[in-house]
Amino acid sequence: MMMCPECKTEDPTCGDKCDHQQIYGEVFEKDAKNFLDAFELLQIDMEWEHIRNQFPGNETGCSRNVLRKQRNWEKIISAKKRKRKHERERRRARLAEEKEPAPQLSKRDLKEITRERLLGAKETGPLLCVDLSMTNHMTKKEISRLAGQIRRLYGSNKKSQKPFWLCLTGFVKNSLIAEECLRMNDGFSNYLMDVTPESYLDLFPLETIVYLTPDAENALEEVDPHKVYILGGLVDETIQKQKTFQNAQEQHLQMARLPIPEYMVKKVNAKNYYSTTLAINQVFDALSTYYETKSWAEALKAAVSPGKGYVLQDTT
Ligand SMILES: C[S@@+](CC[C@H](N)C(=O)[O-])C[C@H]1O[C@@H](n2cnc3c(N)ncnc32)[C@H](O)[C@@H]1O
Repeated sequence: MMMCPECKTEDPTCGDKCDHQQIYGEVFEKDAKNFLDAFELLQIDMEWEHIRNQFPGNETGCSRNVLRKQRNWEKIISAKKRKRKHERERRRARLAEEKEPAPQLSKRDLKEITRERLLGAKETGPLLCVDLSMTNHMTKKEISRLAGQIRRLYGSNKKSQKPFWLCLTGFVKNSLIAEECLRMNDGFSNYLMDVTPESYLDLFPLETIVYLTPDAENALEEVDPHKVYILGGLVDETIQKQKTFQNAQEQHLQMARLPIPEYMVKKVNAKNYYSTTLAINQVFDALSTYYETKSWAEALKAAVSPGKGYVLQDTT
């Protein structure tokens, strides 16, 4: 067997015209280059270490060439680090996806979260009072309906991510409304809200009070957490027109109505019935949705039932 003089392999086809020279030459050249690169980087590293030792805290004491090479070296290292970090993150994300979904919170935990949210609203507001001073103008049936509306209002507030702090003012013990609230609302005595026989006039500074009434001239623009909003605790099947408007006017209070005509239009209906007067729980749904979404369109959509004869204006 003939030994190739170039590549030193036993190759019968090798001779003077051996092309191993070229192939092995290229491989050798590549290896040598890699080796030289690595050696150069190692050298730079050592040089840099040496320079750093000589000029601690001063990188300006070395040649521009060394600095340039050092910077390249650092770039390579940080690119590698970045790549490793990226891969780690991808691995983690994949593992998290494969994991089981988070366990559901227990009923007790959910109750505690709701409780904390509601109590938080006591500190931060906004405040909403239902004025129960007008029950002597109502029938027993109307009072029962009012108690049901208070239950719904409280239920909505409990579900809200941004609850109000609620207060029933003019709530007299052993009155018909007190009895109906206890009879119709499970756990009423444990409701997280204030209940007082006093009037809102004696509880809050006048300038913070906004009486909500469908007959107000001004539309409500914002829900301000520093204000106290009052709803008239009134179910008037035989409509007591402008009842709360007149009361609030006599008490020199600021008034506002929901911005229904500003965002909604009348929709033709068989009964030709249109009303912007809502039940207290519906008004509360509008306030609460607005407070969460900052959108009156959303708020009114949630609160104004189709039976009121209004639909949202087409904004498209
Ligand atoms: C059934 S309404 C009573 C309407 C009654 N005629 C009156 O004079 O207020 C119950 C309460 O919900 C509130 N309310 C109803 N519709 C409203 C609206 N469009 N804007 C503001 N508040 C409203 C008022 O506080 C009102 O007293």
